[in-house]
Amino acid sequence: MCGIVGYMGCHEASPVIMSGLKMLEYRGYDSAGICTMDLGAVEIRRSSGKLVNLERLLNEQPLHGTIGIGHTRWATHGKPTVVNAHPHRGGAVVVVHNGIIENYLSLKEELLDKGHMFLSETDSEVISHLVDEKLKTATTLEEAVRLALKDLQGAYALCILSQRDDKTLIAAKSGSPMVVGIKGHEFFIASDMPAIIANTREMVIMEDGEMAVFRNGTVIFTDLDGQDIVKTPRFIDWSPMMAEKNGYPNFMLKEIHEQPQAVKNVTAGRLRPNEGDVFLEGLHLSDRQLLSFERLCLVACGTSWHAALAGKYMIEEHCRIPVDVEIASEFRYRDPLVSGKTLVIPISQSGETADTLAALREAKSRDAHIVSICNVVDSSIARESDGVIYTHAGLEIGVASTKAFTTQLVALYMLTIRLGRANGAINLEKGREMIAALNALPDLVEKTLLLDPQIEEVACEYLTSWDAIYLGRGISYPIALEGALKLKEISYIHADGYPAGEMKHGPIALIDREMPVFVLAPNDRHLVKVRSNMEEVITRGGRVAAFCSAGDEETGKRAEFSLQIPWAGEVLSAVLFAVALQLVAYNFAILKGKDVDQPRNLAKSVTVE
Ligand code: AGP
Repeated sequence: MCGIVGYMGCHEASPVIMSGLKMLEYRGYDSAGICTMDLGAVEIRRSSGKLVNLERLLNEQPLHGTIGIGHTRWATHGKPTVVNAHPHRGGAVVVVHNGIIENYLSLKEELLDKGHMFLSETDSEVISHLVDEKLKTATTLEEAVRLALKDLQGAYALCILSQRDDKTLIAAKSGSPMVVGIKGHEFFIASDMPAIIANTREMVIMEDGEMAVFRNGTVIFTDLDGQDIVKTPRFIDWSPMMAEKNGYPNFMLKEIHEQPQAVKNVTAGRLRPNEGDVFLEGLHLSDRQLLSFERLCLVACGTSWHAALAGKYMIEEHCRIPVDVEIASEFRYRDPLVSGKTLVIPISQSGETADTLAALREAKSRDAHIVSICNVVDSSIARESDGVIYTHAGLEIGVASTKAFTTQLVALYMLTIRLGRANGAINLEKGREMIAALNALPDLVEKTLLLDPQIEEVACEYLTSWDAIYLGRGISYPIALEGALKLKEISYIHADGYPAGEMKHGPIALIDREMPVFVLAPNDRHLVKVRSNMEEVITRGGRVAAFCSAGDEETGKRAEFSLQIPWAGEVLSAVLFAVALQLVAYNFAILKGKDVDQPRNLAKSVTVE
């Protein structure tokens, strides 16, 4: 959610932190702030709104010092105002925080009784006062932080400074991500790698319950009892270029256009055309082990949940294995039926989504075997899984997930092949066909992107609508859900996705001239039925844009628009329809003048429950 950056080194901290925060702005952009330490004094600048406001303030009132911490916020407790912006100060202590402190009210009451004065409505401010309170008895800042952390309940990634010790910066983590970049005696701390990748690619990934103490060009990692922990930096194989727009007007469009390459990346080195099979290096399960599971349980949130639902259609049909699809935030709290005979598959772009991570832990506590599908390498979900299928989509910065979704679909398709080959539901010939379809996919994604001008016309026509409906049957149903989510997220048009056959059971009452209906009508076994559903809409005066398969001149004849999406086979055509619907949402949002990379109220990875 929020983004954190810290710096200790030989350069002015403020510009280093600001450039890191810019890379994290996609994580939260309600307000922002920086604190630096100079000649034993801390100074703070904060502003509400996007980072550009903070940048303006810093131009007028620069900060100096070679130690500093910064934050860009996605509000949970307290409105996005300047007083609620981080860093927060309690006495001599300044804190930036990502996460939620669940017991902050009781802690606040205790601290108020002890004379602490609170300025903000946030849960985070309590941490600064708590550390300040502990400093009254502790001999060092490090000890005070350790004592304070033991009182906190909830999730946190923290950077802490104190005027009482102007040579020290402390970072700590429990439940929210935190990495430390090392470049000689310079240290870059961040909640996400993109913030610091331009400075160094040597990174230490902190684990829950760890603290990092930076002092005089050194770092020591400890646990909460003060025991040293040996951590070895890893070389992160990402190019800083991935975080640039490369000539595109925004990250979302860039990422939509990266999909042909992303599809190549997720399949690279994994296809075994002769064997009609795939090799998923992170799966770590033999055929015999795969056959030992009674059922699969796919668990995720948002767009990743839509991928999970599409996965159910793929796996049940092709492998004849029962698949449950679970919304992660519900799963954990409803005593789920998983056991050692269940293969649980959390799906997550970021690998840090708190709900999905909690669901993973719940499943693990019930002995389930966990294989996750993640994009971000070494993310918490990936690290806590028994196996991982990485989607290799590359860094996704646009808040609306695009290439992460299509690569998740491809990863699930490959998993389908693997499971089907293992249990014999997919024979050699079919396996080969499926691999051939995968090999053809990147070019077809490229062709789908060429539909953009036609899609822009559709968006122009329906631009004044307040609502929209997306219809699909079979695997097109989760794609319809995803299309609707994309439109809601970035254009703020209310949209719903329905199984086309469900229309007549209620939503059809909504049909009128103001409600565009986007019908997904690939040339699959559902086409005849989908055509009938489309007719039901048109008969009631509804306005339809039909997304058909290439060569199908018939289906869209009575629709206001008929777009022809390349055909990639029954399953993989879903990927192409998803791409087309991304362009629909994108064009609506751009024509309405919306910020597609940072839509209101959203954040890229949702690290609170
Ligand atoms: C995608 O457009 C959304 N912003 C959101 O639904 C996202 O997919 C969801 O929060 C899950 O994120 P994850 O894949 O990183 O776990």
